Amino acid sequence: IKNQAMKIQVGIITVSDRASTGEYEDLGGPVLKEAADGYGWAVVAEALVADDKEQIQRAIREQIAKGAHLVLTTGGTGVAPRDLTPEAVREIADRELPGFGEVMRIESMKITKNAILSRNLAAAVGNALVICLPGKPKGAVECLGFVEGAIPHCVEVLAGVPTSC
Ligand code: MTE
Repeated sequence: IKNQAMKIQVGIITVSDRASTGEYEDLGGPVLKEAADGYGWAVVAEALVADDKEQIQRAIREQIAKGAHLVLTTGGTGVAPRDLTPEAVREIADRELPGFGEVMRIESMKITKNAILSRNLAAAVGNALVICLPGKPKGAVECLGFVEGAIPHCVEVLAGVPTSC
């Protein structure tokens, strides 16, 4: 008997110094929300934070506390001095899930050579899945699309929902 799929609750965090001060418009958050809606997920929290480890970690924890099974971050995965989203997430990760980053980079390399610079990753933080996507809205949506197929099963296993592959 196949279990009924659980409704995935998603948190979205835009990580950007310039968007957080209003210098840029946040484009990444809205496109990820649209993508999440398209996958049939429920967006339960949205945040916009600076490229600051503590702000990133606090936003992730707050969204998980609000019930997010999945937290998507966009931004701060590159090689600029202030790009520190992967470091922020690794510090609070219970387990890293390297397959997500591997697939995102390999698939993205077919689109842009700069994808090699993207330190995309995913990790389990408590019972939630955190996925760090690139900052460019187009790249964030593309990368999410490359790994979306594995997300429902991963989220269910982490949440302790009885499931089979
Ligand atoms: N991945 C996909 N699929 N499509 C893209 O356009 N842009 C890349 C890359 N990954 C891109 C992508 C670029 S230009 C950079 S610099 C890195 O992600 C890092 O992104 P970030 O620093 O904005 O997080």
